[in-house]
Amino acid sequence: MPNSFKHSNKKSIKDRIEVLKNENLFEDSLNQKTDEETFNHIIENFVTTYELGLGISPDFLIDDKYYHIPMVTEEPSVVAGATHAAKIIERNGGFKIKSVKRQMIGQIIFRNVVNFDELNNLIKSLEPKLHTLSKEAHPNIYQFGGGVTEFRFEQKAHNFACLYVVVNTKDAMGANTVNTILEYLTQFFRNEYKLDILMSILSNLATESVVTATTKIKASTLKDGLKTAQKIHDASLYAKVDPYRATTHNKGIMNGVTALMLATGNDTRAVEAGAHAFASISGKYQPLATWELVGDELIGSITLPLNIGVVGGSMNLLPKVKLSRKILGITTATELMKVAACLGLAQNFAALYALTTDGINKGHMKLHARNVALEAGALKDQVEDVVNHLIKTNSITKESAINYLKSIKK
Ligand code: MEV
Repeated sequence: MPNSFKHSNKKSIKDRIEVLKNENLFEDSLNQKTDEETFNHIIENFVTTYELGLGISPDFLIDDKYYHIPMVTEEPSVVAGATHAAKIIERNGGFKIKSVKRQMIGQIIFRNVVNFDELNNLIKSLEPKLHTLSKEAHPNIYQFGGGVTEFRFEQKAHNFACLYVVVNTKDAMGANTVNTILEYLTQFFRNEYKLDILMSILSNLATESVVTATTKIKASTLKDGLKTAQKIHDASLYAKVDPYRATTHNKGIMNGVTALMLATGNDTRAVEAGAHAFASISGKYQPLATWELVGDELIGSITLPLNIGVVGGSMNLLPKVKLSRKILGITTATELMKVAACLGLAQNFAALYALTTDGINKGHMKLHARNVALEAGALKDQVEDVVNHLIKTNSITKESAINYLKSIKK
């Protein structure tokens, strides 16, 4: 499987699809637009669709298995960055998953709690009943081997209290499952005990659904070796002491993660909100991925909360979402979590490697020039030529591109 996408930027779209087909990772029947009536059912006041490109970041070696990662993004250089990083990391032995756990958390929020201990005792005594009710609320998830695994009750300021309900949602992101169970329990508390419940909802701070991925990169495999490795180490250290930098560091990670979430039909806002809250869980906004130079090796590590799924919601209505899962070759949410974490780590490495060596503009400029050339009306076989001209003349503007196109037309 490795190198099947070698020189993929020089391949035609058809050739790239052929590579995927040869590995049984592509089906024409899934490469279809969703019909408008489906969208009309999914959202309200639907008028038209909105397109973005889906690219492949190939050959991610994760726990000795290769993945081609589908990414949907509007930003040039994101797919290229991940691809470049994955290649270097593959040469160094790939990514390793250190740990992964997967459960969702729901909250039932009580207010006007004047005697917390009394309510705590009541909830403790009701636990077996709450388990029975949860099963009654959502028998399906229990049939699949999931369901509520734990209740935790905590006192909060201002006479609030919260019942945290931990749910194994199997391969679904689980918002519907969790909310169904929460609302059923809420009715029970209100009807039977007249308790004052403010609201009940899934939490997007998914601290029970967390994955850690690591990688080791030999300094000698980097441009300028140890010097660059030390700079990447320092860039990671700096992100720990400055939230302005940590935010951008994490934004780069989410460039990859969100692109994969879009491709697989996941709730990007849930994942983004959870990631950034997790980054500040210590009380100080921190980088989600870190790099440490130990001897002559850079040790990279990322820990991400991921409230994601591979079934449920509108996922199975969208052929391109199914196509993404086909390309990835995955069927479980746990596997998607692992791939997302490695992609985030690769994306972060790509950014820090570029920033500490050539700077970000060099790589970006070519991609930016490509967009400018297309915007100026360059045809497919003219783009490369126009891009080279714009870069050579150091004038990447639409006007320059138009002028150049006019000059070669003559
Ligand atoms: C740009 O989309 C992402 C970066 O700014 C990330 C970073 O600075 O680490 C390059």
